[in-house]
Amino acid sequence: VNSNEKNQLEGISLLEKLFHHLLMNTEEGHEALEYLLDRGFNESQLNQYKVGWALPGWETASKLLEKKGFDLSLMEEAGLVIKRDDGTYFDRFRNRVMFPIEDAKGRTVGFSGRIITPEKNEPKYLNSPESPLFQKNSLLFNFHKARGSIRKEKFAVLFEGFADVIAASETVSNGVATMGTSLTKQHIQQIKRLTDTVVICYDGDNAGTEAAFKAAGDLSANGMTVKVARLPSGLDPDDYIQKFGGIKFREEVIQHALSLMAFKMWYLRSGKNLQTEDGRLAYINAALPEISGLGSAVEKELYVKQLSDDTGVSFSSLEEQLKTYMPVKENNPVIEEPVIPLPKKTSILK
Ligand code: CTP
Ligand code: MN
Ligand code: MN
Ligand code: MN
Ligand code: MN
Repeated sequence: VNSNEKNQLEGISLLEKLFHHLLMNTEEGHEALEYLLDRGFNESQLNQYKVGWALPGWETASKLLEKKGFDLSLMEEAGLVIKRDDGTYFDRFRNRVMFPIEDAKGRTVGFSGRIITPEKNEPKYLNSPESPLFQKNSLLFNFHKARGSIRKEKFAVLFEGFADVIAASETVSNGVATMGTSLTKQHIQQIKRLTDTVVICYDGDNAGTEAAFKAAGDLSANGMTVKVARLPSGLDPDDYIQKFGGIKFREEVIQHALSLMAFKMWYLRSGKNLQTEDGRLAYINAALPEISGLGSAVEKELYVKQLSDDTGVSFSSLEEQLKTYMPVKENNPVIEEPVIPLPKKTSILK
């Protein structure tokens, strides 16, 4: 850590304390505290995650940083303040609930600020900008706190939002979340250092399902075992926990996560009208290549059976069709088998 970064970390840490104090102990933070308690966070979670409140004024943080002797141009690079044309500085985060973001070492390297009264042209969440300290492509929210649980439980839960991580933390302490970006190679490598199993638990909406499908493929391509938890339509993990509680979330959602193939079957079937021939064919044509890629004969049979049950097409026709799909094995050179003529009138199929 060079001296500039050390300075920036100190500035970030000072604001983390300021925001948290404003939220928990002041009249100015009262409405924000009510908002957070109303949506189901408790004081212990707010303390553990050092959640805070940034005042609506323009220069609360910048004046404090200046008074404490911080170099404001360094604080600008750290994303805390923004420079005006006249050379003075104003606060980046105003009128927002502040969630500190830690890096893998547990150092707070930035913030995500949530608006509590929707305003035009204002994003719901405002994140720290990219900087040497704050790199969204490799930041996983809660990674440092969850490290021990991930090792102990032998899997990690991957959420879409950090609100979900915090809401779940009392019963699911091995949760992490990306910072509003897609899952990158760097994220996957970090998780892989602790475990090779991930339960994806994204929001129960179309965006969440599509993102889960993509993340599942990427994790699996990196040699990880993937399961996908499913939520009732329209709920995200945080919503589910507010409605049904954290214990039910762990036992019904996380522990009942689908295997990757079961999720793929569900995903490929969803949105297709199986009452129509077109819908059934589309489902079959999408599912068979996936089934043909399965390693075990037992699994293949299981999913061909499911496909048959779902579509009413006979098991034997589907099995016949399955043979036309040749799974492409990567990195395996094709070895030409010597052609041995089969004895006449003997079927190898029976
Ligand atoms: N996100 C963001 N900017 C936005 C919306 C979302 O950066 N304007 C990121 C945040 O990291 C957020 C994640 O995408 O945690 C998931 O988005 P969403 O599901 O919309 O947010 P929730 O986590 O459900 O947040 P809340 O419950 O507070 O609405
Ligand atoms: Mn409540
Ligand atoms: Mn979402
Ligand atoms: Mn959500
Ligand atoms: Mn939510």
